[in-house]
Amino acid sequence: MSDERRLPEVERRTFLRYSLFGGVAGGLGVFGLASLGFLWPQLTGGFGEPIPVGNASDVLATIREERAPFAYPSGRLYVVEYDPSAPGAEEAYGQIGVEVEGTGLMALYQKCVHLGCRVPWCQTSQWFECPCHGSKYNRWGEWVGGPAPRGLDRFPSTVDPNGVLVVDTNPANLQTGPARTANVLSQEAEGPNCVDL
Ligand code: FES
Repeated sequence: MSDERRLPEVERRTFLRYSLFGGVAGGLGVFGLASLGFLWPQLTGGFGEPIPVGNASDVLATIREERAPFAYPSGRLYVVEYDPSAPGAEEAYGQIGVEVEGTGLMALYQKCVHLGCRVPWCQTSQWFECPCHGSKYNRWGEWVGGPAPRGLDRFPSTVDPNGVLVVDTNPANLQTGPARTANVLSQEAEGPNCVDL
């Protein structure tokens, strides 16, 4: 290339600086969009209020049949099977309302307790695995790895007279997730992980 067609050194540096800035801004944008849904409680409708998610027995049957949590996206919640008689469960989950008496169910908030991304379910490992920075939680939402400071938070729930599971998604009533040390379930990954961070 002839000298006159080459970018002057100062312009070249400016171009590289703007390229780098653009890359960083783009990355932040993707992360921001991943978290955005959690910043606008009214957009999806229903979140923030008690939500009837379905007949409690049917929900439990679906969880067992599909070997997956019962997801309710507009309420930003998962319902999982929970055994309150497991050794250590009472100490780790003694907060009022994490398990609906007699149903064997518990409602988890989908929001990662690290920086707020929605945490998907990984069918192969049978864990929740966050794509943002790699936090992982077992099927009770207990912390098993990554930067998250604790397990997933939980919503208090009740069963109405018709047998319908009602989850209270008011953030003010949220139950803080169990400490990293809880490890009640001690569930190893049951297959390949979905997130390799
Ligand atoms: S937001 Fe989930 S690991 Fe950071």
